[in-house]
Amino acid sequence: MTKMNPVFPDNFLWGAAIAANQAEGAWNVAGKGPSVADAIEYKSHLDLKDYESHMAVSDQNISDAFLSLNNERYPKRRGIDFYHRYKEDLALLAEMGIKIMRVSIAWTRIFPTGEEAEPNSAGLQFYEDLFNEMRKHRIEPLVTLSHYEMPLKLSEKYNGWVDRKVIDAFVRFCNSCFDRYGKLVRYWLTFNEIDSIHRHPFTTAGIRKEKSAPGQAEQDVYQGLHHQFVASAIVTRDCHTKVPDSQVGCMLTKLTTYPRTCHPDDVQAALKKNLENYFYTDVQVLGSYPPLILRELELRGISIEMQPGDREILQQHTVDFLSFSYYMSLTESTQPDAERIPGNTVLGVKNPYLPASEWGWQIDPVGLKISLLELYDRYRKPLFIVENGFGAKDTVVDGKICDSYRIDYFRAHFAQMRAAMHEGVELLGYTSWGTIDLISAGTSQMSKRYGFIYVDQDDEGNGTLSRLRKDSFHWYQKVIATQGGDLG
Ligand code: BG6
Repeated sequence: MTKMNPVFPDNFLWGAAIAANQAEGAWNVAGKGPSVADAIEYKSHLDLKDYESHMAVSDQNISDAFLSLNNERYPKRRGIDFYHRYKEDLALLAEMGIKIMRVSIAWTRIFPTGEEAEPNSAGLQFYEDLFNEMRKHRIEPLVTLSHYEMPLKLSEKYNGWVDRKVIDAFVRFCNSCFDRYGKLVRYWLTFNEIDSIHRHPFTTAGIRKEKSAPGQAEQDVYQGLHHQFVASAIVTRDCHTKVPDSQVGCMLTKLTTYPRTCHPDDVQAALKKNLENYFYTDVQVLGSYPPLILRELELRGISIEMQPGDREILQQHTVDFLSFSYYMSLTESTQPDAERIPGNTVLGVKNPYLPASEWGWQIDPVGLKISLLELYDRYRKPLFIVENGFGAKDTVVDGKICDSYRIDYFRAHFAQMRAAMHEGVELLGYTSWGTIDLISAGTSQMSKRYGFIYVDQDDEGNGTLSRLRKDSFHWYQKVIATQGGDLG
């Protein structure tokens, strides 16, 4: 038997992760403009399989949304009021021992419509204060530049990223961030889950398929994706130029897919899904479109318009590390009657060997190790897990939350991370998702909780917003203190 290193390396970055639109609230404060997230309504009767409709909007929805400034029906407008409570939250995270914290910068706090001549100084100031407060606690910021919160105006005017003009707007926003925060922030991510453009194009890229010419919707989404790839490469270059020692990462939803059986047709179906998932990181890490994907697009009649210089930009400005989210694995089959269950804005065939969360996401710690091994073997770049966690309902009993189910989930995943590192994977760090309970991206629920820190708020926005340490808070604190040595 090989001997396992009992602890994670001393420089392993244990961390926490949130996103502005799911946590900050204060959606129309201090000059902030409306973002796509601010138009997403909470629907109390959710069909979990119909994930596209949770995050889609129509013209009517948008005009209804802004007739009133009320935030009751739009949970992402209120978040968990991190905007006003970040000092208290950071103190709790520091108490847990957090070394790095992933946050996003709301583009609309800096450029409310995306096209102002000058950045909004109140917005710039807010993040400077936030990053200084993190540094005070010796918490390293890890900043996502685009996490489902682009200016709604850019979506309406240009159909979002379909129009190449949005590249310039984004590059200007990012450069304002590098200029202002370059001394405070070293770790940057360009687009959160860039692959999600296909699953929920409105929240990811401001694209409304109904605005496309007949038969052009898929073409438009791929064009929007190409613009994001180019923008990502440009801002990677700019960050490297402006921020000394900066590390820039891409970010993928890791959707590792197994064949339902060893029938070659199922194996081929799973392979296809996995190649689709690698497409994005192939471009951002290796610097060019994979030939098999290009051929597939050609066969589907989709042609991506590239301007002179695009290929060179993609090739020259690849990322320094690859970050990803991992919550669950998927299974694929060619059998038409195979039962499909919901996952992270995706449907997959039910895997009989895996339990699932109340939302249907299949819990698979070994899948995390498989993902780490595959990604490292393919790209040979440092990896960073920037989202992972267990969405569950919590109950407060006598002021306590005994969330042993969440601890079990993390324990099993950490053991697999450790095993993957033991086998040679270079893993820089780990930021648990929604370390403080926040609004769900997919369902806009508050009751789908991921946190080690409980927030007193329900799906309708009732509650005091007070924070409470869950049992998992103390457990994660111990894991960090022992460098992963004590997962008990
Ligand atoms: C990731 C997103 O896909 O999954 C997060 O980057 C999101 O924003 C997380 O919150 C969990 O999904 P959900 O729908 O449970 O919030």
